[in-house]
This record gives sequence, C-alpha cells and structure tokens, in this order.
Amino acid sequence: MSTTLELDDQGTRTTGGPQVHPITDTIGADITGLDLENLTPRDIRFFRQAVLDHCVVRLRGYSIDDDKQVELGRYIGALTGSSVRRDKEFDWSKKYPELVVISNIKENGETIGVLENGELNWHTDLAFDEVPPSLSLLRALEVPESGGNTGFANMYKALESLPPRLRQRITGLRLKHQRSHDAQGRPRVGFEHLSADDVSALPGPVHPLVRTHPDSGREALYLGRRFGGYIMGLDVAESEELLDELWHYGTLPENTWHQEWQVGDMMVWDNRSTMHRRDNFPAEQRRRMHRIVVLGSKPY
Ligand code: OGA
Ligand code: MN
Repeated sequence: MSTTLELDDQGTRTTGGPQVHPITDTIGADITGLDLENLTPRDIRFFRQAVLDHCVVRLRGYSIDDDKQVELGRYIGALTGSSVRRDKEFDWSKKYPELVVISNIKENGETIGVLENGELNWHTDLAFDEVPPSLSLLRALEVPESGGNTGFANMYKALESLPPRLRQRITGLRLKHQRSHDAQGRPRVGFEHLSADDVSALPGPVHPLVRTHPDSGREALYLGRRFGGYIMGLDVAESEELLDELWHYGTLPENTWHQEWQVGDMMVWDNRSTMHRRDNFPAEQRRRMHRIVVLGSKPY
C-alpha cells in the first residue's frame, strides 16, 4: 500500500507530493517526496498522519540540519527537554536548548554526548515523566560501520497479541514508571544511594498499563521500561511475574523492526504506540545522533 497526495486543497489534481512507503507490514514507513524547503500545512498533515499510521517514519535522502529537525518538531508541538539530571552539564546548542546529542565520541578526553556506548534495552522515551513526550526525532550524523541499529516495537500489536485472559487481567491496572534508574538499571544522578531491591518504593509517576492514543483513539500497551517497573496494588513478586509476561508479548519479534542507519537518516517515532532499543556496536567506532522530543499529554 502506498498513498499519494494527488489532489490539492481545491481538489485539483497535482503531480508529485509526498508519498508513504511501508517498510514492514507491522511498523515503519519511509516518506519520500517531501519538499522540506517549502513545507505546506498539507505536508505537515500528511507527515503527522504517516507517523500515526505507521508509528515510526524514516526520512532518508533528505538534507536535514538542526534547524530543519527543530522546525519539523515544532510543527508537531512544543519541544521539551529531558527531565533527568546528568553527570555533567552539556552545552550542545545555544540556539536549541532542547537538542540532545547521543554519542560515544570523546573530544579532549570528554564524552560529547549521552547514552554513549552499548546496547540499550527496550523502552519508550521519558515515560517516567508525568507528561511524557509524544514524538521523538532522532537524526544520524555519524554511524558505526556495524551494529548500533535501532529496533522499534508496535505496542498496538503488542496489546492485540496478549492472550485474552492476560488482556482481561490488566484492564484498569496502573504501572509505576520509576525515574531513579535508567533502562539498564543504573541509578541516575542524585539517586546513587537508592536501592532498587524494593521496586514498589522507587519514585516515579503512575500511568495506565493500557493507554488510549489521544490522536488515533486506539489502545496500546504502555510499558515504559522493564527495570524497576511496578504494577500498583500487587505484591512485588506478583507484579514482577505479570510484567515479565507482558514484556514477553511487548517485544515479540514479529511486532518489531530494526532500522539500519545511514548518515542523514532521521527517524520519527510515536512514544505512545512504540518502544525502541539499540544494538551494541564497536565502542571505538564513532556514532553521533541529534535528538529532540515533542511534549505529549498525560496518558489515560
Ligand atoms: C533515544 C534512543 C537509541 C539509539 O534517542 O531515545 O533510545 O539508537 N536512542 O541511539
Ligand atoms: Mn530512547
């Protein structure tokens, strides 16, 4: 299936215009033919709809710089910063304080970015905020020769994959998304002395396990990150067991796809309907990405 915009606002037939090309049946699409220098309201509607329909879109073969990335993000909504404290203050962009550099590159012995090396476990961005982001826009400036692919999982499909008894069991249940530890289980700055032995005691907001997407109206499984998750009202052991089961269905390979980056690619994903992860890659190879996130709304 591919959709072509063939009518202009007056219903006149036009040629060209953006097109969406699904990458898999499950998740992901390329958008071709966007004229980024002359974006129209119709292009923006098309772009938003493609993200809603395919959960993740890729802009490949365009020339996108920080200005253009931020411009696209702002057409969708308000940009927001990360709420977590970092080991050191970065000064990535005077122009765009919300821009985050994700990189393992060191300059003068100092790392220039965050989430430097290694695998990243499945997660959805900033679910540990009261008001998590809607979209993330991640653009590749340097990529390693091998590894460092980013995987995406469709969380509508994850919900549909649950056996009926499990789907029934989680109706109305709420998950605490701890904010003290990262997805790898490492304590964040300021929480080094907090033991994660009792996950029910970790700080963080509570969101429904099944959330309704405010734009599509569809229900999706909303897991955030596995480490430190706690389902309210259950014994910790019971919560752990139920979470393990949900995570199994949440990351079924048939509901996922992995992006192999090329320099210049920009991935735009919907944090309300997806999770993502990253493959390991050789630590000595340079990887540099720029990310912005768009503020969403409180999950319900
Ligand atoms: C992120 C993220 C994965 C990657 O930017 O939120 O998880 O592949 N990045 O760098
Ligand atoms: Mn992420």
